[in-house]
Amino acid sequence: MTEALNRSAYRIYLDFLETAEKKRRWSIFDDIPWDSLDAAKSTEASAQCVEIYCAEELYVPDYSAKGLELVRSRFGVAWFQTCWAFEESKHGLAFREYLTRSAFRSEAEVEALETSVFEKYWKLPFETSRQMACYGALQEGTTYVAYKLQKGKARCAGDRVLEAIFHLVGRDEAAHAGFYRAIIELELSQDREATIADLGYVLSRFKMPGDGLIANYQQRLRASGAGISPRAFVEHVVWPLLITLQIGRQELKHALKSRALDAQI
Ligand SMILES: [Fe+2]
Ligand SMILES: [Fe+2]
Repeated sequence: MTEALNRSAYRIYLDFLETAEKKRRWSIFDDIPWDSLDAAKSTEASAQCVEIYCAEELYVPDYSAKGLELVRSRFGVAWFQTCWAFEESKHGLAFREYLTRSAFRSEAEVEALETSVFEKYWKLPFETSRQMACYGALQEGTTYVAYKLQKGKARCAGDRVLEAIFHLVGRDEAAHAGFYRAIIELELSQDREATIADLGYVLSRFKMPGDGLIANYQQRLRASGAGISPRAFVEHVVWPLLITLQIGRQELKHALKSRALDAQI
C-alpha cells in the first residue's frame, strides 16, 4: 500500500472509531436486560446456537494475534485490528454469560468448551492483507446475517435477553463488515483487476473460521439452525457486497476464470 492509501485507510479507521465511540459502544453489564432472563422462553436448540457462536468467538486471541501481525505496518488497519479485538472479545463473553446465567450450561461445561477451543489454533486462511480484507468482508457479513436471523427467532420466542445480545453483537459485525468493504474499495482504486481476482480467490475458498476447528461444525450448524444456507450466503452476503463495490458478475467471473477457479455463483 502506498503512503497515500495508508493515509486513506487511517481516515477510514477514524470514521469507524468515531461511530463506534459515539453510537455503538455497549456494555455487557448495562445493555443486556439480564433481569428478564427466562429460560422457559428459550430452547436447547437456541442454546446450541449460542454455544457454537460462543466457541467461534472465543478464538479471538488467535484472530487478533495473527491478524495484527499481518497488518502491523499499516497504521489505520492495524489500529482497527486492536479495536476489533476488543469488540469481538465482548461477543464471546456475552454468549458465555447467556449460557451460564440461563443455566443451559454449567460453569464446568463452559470451561470444558473453552478448553476444547484452545486445544486448536486458528491460522490465517489467506496470506495477504488484501485477501484478508476480502475474507473479513465476507466473514463479518455472514456472521451479521446469521445473528440477524437469530435475533428474529429470539424476538418471536419472547427471549428479550437473547434478542438484545444478537442485536448488539450483530450491529458490531455489520460495522466490521463495513470497514472491510471500505478497505476493499480503497484497494480497488489502486489495482482493480488484482483486487477483484483476490476477492474471487477468497470467495471460491471461503469458509467460516470455526469450520475445521470446532468439532462437527457443519453438522452442528445444521442441527441447531445456527448456520445460513448457501443461497442466503449468496443473496444476503455476496451480492450486496458486489453491488456496493460495483463489481459486475462478469467481471468477477473473468477474474475467477483467470485463476482457473470455479466459484459456483
Ligand atoms: Fe463477533
Ligand atoms: Fe466481527
